[in-house]
Amino acid sequence: MKTHTQKFISIQEAIEKARHSQVRSGSSKDQAKGEVAVRGWVYRERGSNAMKFIVLRDSSNIIQCVLERKNFEKQWDEIDKIKIESSLEIIGEIKEDKRAPTGFEIQVKKINIIQIAEDFPINKDLNEELLGDRRHLWLRSRKMTAVLKIRSTVFNAIHEYFRNNGFYEYQSPIFQAVQCEGGSILFNVDYFGKKGVFLAQTWQLYAEPAIFSLEKIYTLAPSFRAEESKTSRHLTEYWHAEMEVAWATFKDIQDHGEGLIKNIVKRVLNENKPELEILERDIKKLEPTVKKPFPRITYDDALKILKDKCKVKIPWGKDLRTIEEDELSKLYDTPIIVTNYPKEVKAFYMKGTEGNPKVVNGCDFIGPEGYGELIGGSEREADPDKIKKRLIEMGEKPEQYSFYLDTRKYGSVPHGGFGMGVERVVSWICGLDTIKDAIAFPRTMTRFTP
Ligand code: 4AD
Ligand code: MG
Repeated sequence: MKTHTQKFISIQEAIEKARHSQVRSGSSKDQAKGEVAVRGWVYRERGSNAMKFIVLRDSSNIIQCVLERKNFEKQWDEIDKIKIESSLEIIGEIKEDKRAPTGFEIQVKKINIIQIAEDFPINKDLNEELLGDRRHLWLRSRKMTAVLKIRSTVFNAIHEYFRNNGFYEYQSPIFQAVQCEGGSILFNVDYFGKKGVFLAQTWQLYAEPAIFSLEKIYTLAPSFRAEESKTSRHLTEYWHAEMEVAWATFKDIQDHGEGLIKNIVKRVLNENKPELEILERDIKKLEPTVKKPFPRITYDDALKILKDKCKVKIPWGKDLRTIEEDELSKLYDTPIIVTNYPKEVKAFYMKGTEGNPKVVNGCDFIGPEGYGELIGGSEREADPDKIKKRLIEMGEKPEQYSFYLDTRKYGSVPHGGFGMGVERVVSWICGLDTIKDAIAFPRTMTRFTP
């Protein structure tokens, strides 16, 4: 078979072609007698002396292919050696077959074996650790393929939301000399022997200076957190969708967070039904997010709800932990927005709430079904003296933040923004057990290879 003259189509296109030719009542010669050329990898295979059944997969779908020995006498020895993950090109007749895994089958007329794979070192008995070691191969699984497609839609939907709403895409440095979300979870970098250089936890302190230039900005970039927690929702390297807006009110920030999540879920529901099906995700659990407004409650409300409905008592002033967030999330079928947390549990840059100096205009979006905090955001404090005071309380040196404090000196304006953990969102949308499966090569406290 001469590959370069053949027009290959995807398996999904082949199936659609077959369907289409049926719709046209099978009369036209134009249906190319259902002949298709496809290529991909062996997903499953079984055979006998006379026949070989191969389920071929490509990025689009899988399809059963049948080879009869009588048509391949010369090639049979080679065909007999085909194992899982071998790469092939196939030409044949496609036709409906209700017994085949995707309802169609190809009677193979020509086969071009590109490579016979070695024994594929992945099987059902592997534990999580071994699957992690073989992650580069596990990416080919139907599950990971489905997740990665949904992830791709999510990235697209993020760009789409911000660009449709008048934001500029802007990039901040990854090497930074300041902390923003707590010094204990910074990754130190050996910067030519110098200390005090860290990997970005967030773009925020380098984004705020840019709103005086561009006003509405967003980014989609990796963030790094030296989290010593082995939970199902923490990575050490994750993708962070962040935005910052000049003149924004606290409400504007929450509205954008809600708009962004709605756009993402809407897009996935429109484009990834087959993948959600492969993941056995109940889409009824996602639909309310698109249709209903997100409840917005204060931290005080949250404590009251936890006490009344969940029989969980939290003393005022304590942060909501994972267990409390999970309890709350069980009461709603959309993300909820919790606002006005106590100042002490939130970051130094958050603006105090007018008339209630004990709390701040910060908000967390808690995902449904126990998927935890999807978004953290706030209105930013405008008063440089208040910021300095909080930095000193935290043991930081305000001099190192002078570039940041300058933003409050030259035409300061009300502003704010948020950050969304992309893998948290992907994990929730896909209904995953662990955030590790929301990214191709997860980085955690205990895993940095392959
Ligand atoms: O709440 P965080 O720490 O907020 C910030 O970083 C702000 N500076 C953002 C901003 O206003 N520009 O982080 C934002 C989000 C969290 O809500 C969570 O979804 C995600 O980032 N996140 C993580 N995701 C995966 N693994 C981790 N270790 C994460 N830490 C935070
Ligand atoms: Mg947070």
